[in-house]
Amino acid sequence: MLRKKLFLFLFTAVFFSCAQSKDPVEKKIDELLSRMTLQEKIGQMNQLTGTGLSGDMISQIKSGKVGSILNELDIKTTNELQRVAVKESRLGIPVVFARDVIHGFKTIFPIPLGQAATWNPQLVESGARVAALEATAAGIRWTFAPMIDIARDPRWGRIAESCGEDPYLTSQMGVAMIKGFQGEKLSDPTSMAACAKHFAGYGATESGKDYNTTWIPEVQLRDVYLPPFKAAVDAGVSSFMCSFNDINGVPSSGNEFLNRQVLRKEWNYSGLLVSDWASIEQMIKHGVCTDLSAATQKAIKAGVDMDMMSYAYINHAEALVKSGSLAEKQIDEAVRNILRMKFRLGLFENPYIEEPTEMPYYSVDALLKAKQTAIESTILLKNENNLLPLTDAVKSVAVLGPLSDAPADQLGTWCFDAESSHSVTPLAAIKTMLGSSAQVIAEKGLTYSRDMNAEGIARAVDAAKKAEVILLFVGEEAVLSGEAHCRADICLPGAQPELITALKKTGKPIVMVVMAGRPLTIGKQLEEANAVLYAFHGGTMAGPALADLIFGKAVPSGKLPVTLPRMAGQIPIYYSHKMTGRPAENIVTINNIPVGAGQTSLGNTSYHLDAGDSPLFPFGFGLSYTTFKYSDVKVSKNILSLGQTINVSCTITNTGKYDGAEVAQLYTRDVVGSLARPVRELKGFQKINLKAGEAATVNFTLTPDQLSFWNADMVKLTEPGDFQVWISADSQCGKPGTFKFI
Ligand code: NOJ
Repeated sequence: MLRKKLFLFLFTAVFFSCAQSKDPVEKKIDELLSRMTLQEKIGQMNQLTGTGLSGDMISQIKSGKVGSILNELDIKTTNELQRVAVKESRLGIPVVFARDVIHGFKTIFPIPLGQAATWNPQLVESGARVAALEATAAGIRWTFAPMIDIARDPRWGRIAESCGEDPYLTSQMGVAMIKGFQGEKLSDPTSMAACAKHFAGYGATESGKDYNTTWIPEVQLRDVYLPPFKAAVDAGVSSFMCSFNDINGVPSSGNEFLNRQVLRKEWNYSGLLVSDWASIEQMIKHGVCTDLSAATQKAIKAGVDMDMMSYAYINHAEALVKSGSLAEKQIDEAVRNILRMKFRLGLFENPYIEEPTEMPYYSVDALLKAKQTAIESTILLKNENNLLPLTDAVKSVAVLGPLSDAPADQLGTWCFDAESSHSVTPLAAIKTMLGSSAQVIAEKGLTYSRDMNAEGIARAVDAAKKAEVILLFVGEEAVLSGEAHCRADICLPGAQPELITALKKTGKPIVMVVMAGRPLTIGKQLEEANAVLYAFHGGTMAGPALADLIFGKAVPSGKLPVTLPRMAGQIPIYYSHKMTGRPAENIVTINNIPVGAGQTSLGNTSYHLDAGDSPLFPFGFGLSYTTFKYSDVKVSKNILSLGQTINVSCTITNTGKYDGAEVAQLYTRDVVGSLARPVRELKGFQKINLKAGEAATVNFTLTPDQLSFWNADMVKLTEPGDFQVWISADSQCGKPGTFKFI
C-alpha cells in the first residue's frame, strides 16, 4: 500500500514537473509552428532590406514571406508594415525590424575600439543602453552589434568596430554591450536584441583586406577567436551573425562545424543565427556552391536560420524540402529559433512602436555619458615635461589640423543615423572652454586627412607662430576605416606628416591628438610632438572630452586595447605572442650593421632589422597626468590544485599630484606546456580611482579553469607546471610572481 502511494506520488510529481518544465515560450512556438505551412516557415527565414511601403513589400508581408526587415526607419512606415504582418497575413506573425546600431544611434559614442580603450565595462554598458533607448524609439528592436571579432591587424578597416586584440578584454566589452542593448528584459520596448558577430574568425583576414580568406588552426580558433562568442552566449545574447570569410576553406555561412558543432552542440545556444548580407549567395563566388539552390542547401544544413538579402531561402528552400534534399525538421529548427526571439522581444503582445511626442535623442544624460566615454577612451602616449594639462597661464593656442573641426569625421564609421550637426568639435569646445580668457587661433592647415595641398601648411605655421601652444588634431577621416575600408599602409595620410614637421620648426610646443579608426604608425610624429593623446573617433562629444583632457578638467585613463606597431610590416603584432625558440636579443638594427658583416654575425634571433622587436606601444599601455606605483605583489599560495583558487594582490599608490584612475591588469603565463604558450595572457583587470597620494589594494582571484587552454587533442585543460602571474600597468611591464599548478 505504502509502495503504491509512493509510486503514485512520484508519478504525479514527475508528470507535473514535466508539464510545467516546458517554457511558456516553447509552448507558444510549438503551437504556432503546428499551424504554419512550409512556405510560411520559409518566409520567417527571409530577411529583406526596407523599401518603404512599396507594393512588393506589402504583398510579400501579406503572404507571410518576410520574417525580418532591416534598415527601415520611418515609424509610420514600420507601423504600417507591422500592421500588415499582424492583421493581414494568415498567422499574424510580427516582423522584427533590424539595423546596425553600432556605437550609438543619434548620440554617437566613441567607436567600439575606443570604447574598449576605457577598460570600463559599466560605462560601455551604459552607452549601449543609450543607443537602445534612442534606436527603439525609431522602431529598431534588433541591432547587429556587438562585433566581437578579435582584430590583430590594423590594416583591416573593421578593427574600428572591434574591441581590439585580446579575447578577455573583448569578452568583457562584448558582454557589457549585450547587457546595455538588451536591457533587463528583452520584452521591454526599450530593449533591442543584440547580435554577436561575425561568427567566426573574420578578424584573421589575410593581409588585413576585408572579406579575405582566413586560415585558423583549431587550437587558435578555440583559444583566441571563439571565447568572446562563448561569453556572449553565456550572457544571453539573442542572435549571432555569420562572418563573410571562409575559414580553412569553408565559408561561415555553410560551416557546420562552427554553427552546429560549436555553437549549438557544445554551447547549447538557443538564439537566432542570421547570415551576413548576401553571404549565402556569396558561397557561389567563394567557389563552394554551383548555384543559389546549392548555397541554400548548404546554409540550412549548416544551421543558418535566417537569410539576409540573398533571396536564397525564399526561392529555393521549398523545392529542396520537397525533393528530399533538406529535411523539414531542419526548417522547423530554424523557425523555432526565429520565433523564440520574436516571442522574447514581446513582439506578439506589443508589435507596434508608440510614436513619442518628442524623440528621446541627445538627452543631457546621453551626451554626458558619450562625453565621459570619449574621455576614458583617450590614451595619453607621451607627455614631455608635463606639458599637459595646459594651465590658465596659457593665453593663446593655435588649434590646427584636419580633424580639429571635422564634425562628421569625429563620429567614425558605422553611424548611419547620426547627424553631424550635433557633433561638438575640438575647435568649438576649446573656444567655449576658453571664452575670453585666452586667444584661439584656428587654421586647419589641411582641409581633410588625405589632403596633399601643402599651401595650407604655410597658413598653419603662421597661425602657430602667433600662439604659445599648438593643439594639433590629426588622424583619419571616418571613411578610411570600417567595412571594406582597409589600408595597406597605416601611416597618417595626406600631407599630415609634413604639416607636423613644419610646425615642429616653429619651436612651439605641440600637443598632438590622433583621431583615427585604427592604430596608425606615428613613430616619427611621436618624436616631433611634445605630448600625444590617442583619441580614436570619439563621437558626438569628442570635442568637449578632448578639451577637458587638454585643460585638465579630466585626467586621461585610457589604455590601449590593441598594440600600436612601429611599422605596418610588423603586423600581425600582438602582446600575447609565443616566445619562439630564438627570442630577440642583442638587437642590431639596420643602420648599425657593420658594412661587410657576416651572415651569422647578428646572433640569429627573432626580430626585424628595421623595426626591432618591440611595438611603438604595447597593449594595455596608457599614461596619466599623475603616476601610479605598483608594489607588494602577493600570490596567496605557491601551489594551486583543482577545485581551489589563488589570490593575487598588489598595492597601487597614486604617487602624483592629480586624482586619477588606473587600470590594473592581471596577466599569467604557463611557462611550459604541451603546446607553446603565449608570453602573457590577460586574465582580469580593475579600473580604480585614486586620489593624489592615496593607495589601494587590488585583489584578483584565479581559478585553474582560467589557466586552461586547448591542447593538440582538442581537449581544454589546465596542465600541471609552473605559472607566472603579473599585476601590471600594461602587457610588458612589471615583475611576475610565481606558483605551481599540480
Ligand atoms: C554587412 C556587415 O558585415 C555586417 O556587420 C552588417 O551587420 C550587415 N552588413 C548589415 O548591415
